[in-house]
Amino acid sequence: MTKYWKVDQGLGCETFEPIIEAAMLLRRGETVAFPTETVYGLGADATNTAAVERIFLAKGRPSDNPLIVHIADIEQLSGLIEPASVTSDHRKLMEFFWPGPLTLVLPVKTGGISSLVTAGLTTVGVRIPDHPVALQLLREAKLPIAAPSANSSGRPSPTLASHVREDLDGRIGGIVDGGATGVGVESTVIQLVDGQLYILRPGGVTAEQLQSALPGIQIHEPEREEILDSETPRAPGMKYAHYAPKGFMHIVHGDDTEAVVAWIQSDINAAKARGESTGILTFEERAFRYDADLVIACGSLSQPETIAQELYAALRQFDQEGIHYIAAEGCPETGIGLAIMNRLRKAAGHRLVRV
Ligand code: TXA
Ligand code: MG
Repeated sequence: MTKYWKVDQGLGCETFEPIIEAAMLLRRGETVAFPTETVYGLGADATNTAAVERIFLAKGRPSDNPLIVHIADIEQLSGLIEPASVTSDHRKLMEFFWPGPLTLVLPVKTGGISSLVTAGLTTVGVRIPDHPVALQLLREAKLPIAAPSANSSGRPSPTLASHVREDLDGRIGGIVDGGATGVGVESTVIQLVDGQLYILRPGGVTAEQLQSALPGIQIHEPEREEILDSETPRAPGMKYAHYAPKGFMHIVHGDDTEAVVAWIQSDINAAKARGESTGILTFEERAFRYDADLVIACGSLSQPETIAQELYAALRQFDQEGIHYIAAEGCPETGIGLAIMNRLRKAAGHRLVRV
């Protein structure tokens, strides 16, 4: 059975008991899901191979995908990584962004953590989360905690405890429910190589913020993989790829709003005519212009942080309502938009239509 605790982010006295219990589960080698400022994580003792194995089992995660280690403070770093590898640029990033949604990939210290965490790599991703419940749990557990997002592998990451329950109830030791997470997309994963900064995964800390923390540094963004998909529409039989969401989804992107709206509506009309259940993922500014079985206004283009906050819940909603055919509007790839489009591309199996 999965234990469940509801806690208050304000960390009133009533919160202490659940967090102590949850920390005890972690110390015993169990898995516990907990809120961070990005998404819910599924934690386990990073030094205990049997515990880390439980994460991979519960999520159905391929064992060649390494996990991020969460710590409560900088002092804990020395147990995990080679101290000599920390440069002044690393230190600046830690000062600027920790606690916060930035994961630094550093050379792992031999014998420090289970090799399952790093999937056998010589490096480890580390971060200090900026969430009172996560920090209190890490302090009580007194352990480095490996924690991927607390979803079944392939599904959208959880931004509410109910999403964790949906995917993992009965498969994990416990769930600490601290309400909705903040940023809504995962941390930015970066590595410094030869004085240059590589963004391995865009996320809550933007490329612009990284550049202002290290003004002189060259930043490399990940490749934007896409399958240009301009023939409409795809054969219905080809659509149930194992991506999030379960239905077929493609992204429609372009500078001319009128053309995008017209393209999407006619694409959806054609899907309707084939008897498909249809969905549109759009923004508050435009939702009223569309007609489909489910139109989701996912945040506002004028405040892209709100798009990030609502994205994963929106993707889950298409599944909940059994939508088979989805057109998603793209957003500008600046600031947090880079992370939003990175997740949308994955969810859409990299199918993108430019109009
Ligand atoms: O916001 C987050 O980062 C959330 C919360 C729970 O902290 N965690 C999260 O973990 O998103 P996960 O496991 O879903 O994603 C970890 C990402 C993967 O893309 C993985 O490949 C990358 O980090 N990663 C981890 N260790 C790495 C390493 N040593 N080298 C390169 N990439 C690494
Ligand atoms: Mg994940």
